[in-house]
Amino acid sequence: MLHLESDPDDVAAVAEFMAAQQADPTHHIGYLGLDAEPIRLQLQGLEPLGTAGLSVARDGSRIVGALAAEWDTDPPRCWWHGPFVAPDADATAVSDALLAHGRERLPDEVTQEETCGDERHAWLSDFAARNGFHAEEASAVLGRSLTGGLPPRTVATVAGEELTEQQRNDVAALHDALFANTHTPGHKLVAGGDRRLLVVIQEGRAVGYAAVERQEDGAGYLDFLGVAPEVQGRGLGSALVAAACHELRDILGCEVTDLTVRVGNAAARKVYTNNGFVEERILVPFRKGMALP
Ligand SMILES: CC(C)(COP(=O)(O)OP(=O)(O)OC[C@H]1O[C@@H](n2cnc3c(N)ncnc32)[C@H](O)[C@@H]1OP(=O)(O)O)[C@@H](O)C(=O)NCCC(=O)NCCS
Repeated sequence: MLHLESDPDDVAAVAEFMAAQQADPTHHIGYLGLDAEPIRLQLQGLEPLGTAGLSVARDGSRIVGALAAEWDTDPPRCWWHGPFVAPDADATAVSDALLAHGRERLPDEVTQEETCGDERHAWLSDFAARNGFHAEEASAVLGRSLTGGLPPRTVATVAGEELTEQQRNDVAALHDALFANTHTPGHKLVAGGDRRLLVVIQEGRAVGYAAVERQEDGAGYLDFLGVAPEVQGRGLGSALVAAACHELRDILGCEVTDLTVRVGNAAARKVYTNNGFVEERILVPFRKGMALP
């Protein structure tokens, strides 16, 4: 008999359960770590509820499913980490029950929803279609080691906190133009926080930027990369990726890093492969109440 709860006492066991599913490409969900301990830390840090944003399905005391919710009001969007369902459980019944349980706690103003999984996931696209989500363009997860040789750092960058107000506004406007409707709008990107912003200034104007962060498992993440259209194609994108790798290794102490890039974004993919990134998996996003251009 299935029963559902939120805010479980045994968060470590839920993280173990999720990690077991993450290791299998046919059950892998994007953006959540691979190992139990980093996943546990991610669950504790869920915005805004922490582990109260977790829905857990049990058969007796055994965990058979889990879904974590993370949401924001700017944009008004919920990112579901999951659903995860034990391979021997009824994926349809458990995943739908988890989503219904999770949605009960979403504020009315949060009207957009997203989840994403490995393109080899066994049932996520059926789950998504049943629950009103549509698939959008897939992204490739690319990674590289930061130990050993890195491409040389060939461009000077200014840290986000050292920008003038005008330069901050330039970066925010450029970001909004390049990444419409993304999870972090320009004004948030330049506001600081966990991400480190590296900005290239030419003649006093911000013309390119990269945003990097260290994740719960210690791996780096290159979150955003943008170059002003009028100076694209001159090597700035590649130079920013190299600078980002140095920042991740030397300042944030990361030994590996990854990033995601739309499969159809040929210029960006070229910039990353030129900088030694290799493809690790393909993730398909499913969205409801929104679409990304
Ligand atoms: C991706 C982006 C940052 C690249 O910046 P850039 O300064 O133009 O990059 P570079 O000049 O260093 O390199 C561009 C590379 O892409 C290649 N390229 C450009 N258009 C291409 C296309 N349509 N197909 C294949 N390769 C292409 C160039 O030949 C060059 O490769 P090369 O150095 O091996 O010749 C820039 O295009 C951009 O801001 N795009 C919009 C935002 C974006 O998509 N960001 C990445 C999100 S993950």
